[in-house]
Amino acid sequence: MPDKSTLKLGFLGMGVVGQGVWKHIQRHGETLRSRLGVGLELYRAAVRDLSLKRLSDIPPSALTDDPESIVNDPEVDIVCELMGGTDRARELTLTAFRNGKTVVTANKALICDHGTELFEAARENGAHYLFEASVAGGIPVIKALREGLVANRFSHIFGILNGTSNYILTRMEREGLAYEDVLTEARNLGYVEADEALDLDGIDAAHKAAILAYLAHGRWISLDEMVVEGIRDITLHDIQAAHRLGCKIKLLAIISKDFDTNRIRAGVHPMLISTEEVVAGVDEVYNAVSITGDVAGNTVLIGRGAGQDATASAVISDIVDAVTSISNGVLESSLKLEAAFYERLSDGSTIAGLDEIQGSFYLRLSVDDKPGVLARVTEILSNAGISISTVDQASGEGKGVASLILTTHRSTEKAMAGAVADLKDEPSVLENPVLLRIFESID
Ligand SMILES: NC(=O)c1ccc[n+]([C@@H]2O[C@H](COP(=O)([O-])OP(=O)(O)OC[C@H]3O[C@@H](n4cnc5c(N)ncnc54)[C@H](OP(=O)(O)O)[C@@H]3O)[C@@H](O)[C@H]2O)c1
Repeated sequence: MPDKSTLKLGFLGMGVVGQGVWKHIQRHGETLRSRLGVGLELYRAAVRDLSLKRLSDIPPSALTDDPESIVNDPEVDIVCELMGGTDRARELTLTAFRNGKTVVTANKALICDHGTELFEAARENGAHYLFEASVAGGIPVIKALREGLVANRFSHIFGILNGTSNYILTRMEREGLAYEDVLTEARNLGYVEADEALDLDGIDAAHKAAILAYLAHGRWISLDEMVVEGIRDITLHDIQAAHRLGCKIKLLAIISKDFDTNRIRAGVHPMLISTEEVVAGVDEVYNAVSITGDVAGNTVLIGRGAGQDATASAVISDIVDAVTSISNGVLESSLKLEAAFYERLSDGSTIAGLDEIQGSFYLRLSVDDKPGVLARVTEILSNAGISISTVDQASGEGKGVASLILTTHRSTEKAMAGAVADLKDEPSVLENPVLLRIFESID
């Protein structure tokens, strides 16, 4: 293998990302060859439907509808898994590893659901599993954590990891549009995943947060261990109220670690974030990741979080890494080093409970517009040990209905969850309370 002058790429999937990778490798093939000293051959690609129209650069003879023939082909050096999904992609990836092939992927859902098994299988078979494109598209955040910032312990990582929800929130804020209207527009622009829950319920961002948590702390966190909330309940009322508080609303993924207690917190929520924070200024489909390390301090990376070209850029960077370690014959030693690194990093950390996670909150209530209701709401919060910081009684939404917007001082997630449950049972509270977290600046 090390003596090869050209390495062959086999693709599982030739959709949006696959075609981007093909296009850019074809266009920059000579540059890559001169930088790497090795050529890359766009060898074969598996698709589901051979009759679909693809980029004219892709010869139909390179396509197959049999993905097994890619992962079992002894000629294929590197497999690019760009098909998505978790079942078939998992099986094919495992077969590729069994055949000793390095796999490059953009599939965050697969890594999140089966990361432990897949990384172990890769190591056992002396293969690499590379996944830069799985988090924040074109932003090289995985390389930043693994390489550039390797000297650090990461107390806080947070950011905007889902471009679609950021686009929706930005348009609502800038144009004063309702959530449903912007969602329709985002669907028409092809920004929303076929399974809309991935974007709108925070699941896609949570998959990415789990991968960042693994890279930072060597521990896989399942989605069940995180509080994961999306943007479906956000209204213009909330965006305007946040504005009055000097904030924007952003869907933020948060991964923090308390090194004294060895407890990790990971979650995804829509949050009020001060407009003074750099991340608050990251709008439209852009992503941002803020990393706080004990050596480097704060680093913020901003860029295109998805899309054909940005994602292809990240996939190609992994292909280049794979080529470098294969052609220099250092694959095995780099795998051993990596395995030892993550084993040391994991250091037995555990997940923080809801009674340990503290923060301040924003609460919007739709209530009966009559005397005594505010006192009753205050009493419920006070019984849960929560003290109110601000109260904003917005004009009525309809006859006899008032909108009550409260912010709280710090309390625990557990106390707040209890208070919200009691508020739901309160007859003068007319709809489910909308609860948002308030981002606390990291200095
Ligand atoms: N799009 C983005 O901006 C983006 C960003 C970051 C990460 N990602 C990730 O990248 C991956 C690919 O996304 P994409 O947007 O490129 O998806 P896509 O456009 O739907 O492409 C998927 C490709 O896989 C093929 N495929 C699916 N199931 C197959 C099967 N069972 N056998 C053979 N081929 C199969 C499809 O074939 P047909 O073409 O014949 O249907 C298609 O070519 C996903 O994991 C996604 O989460 C995407």
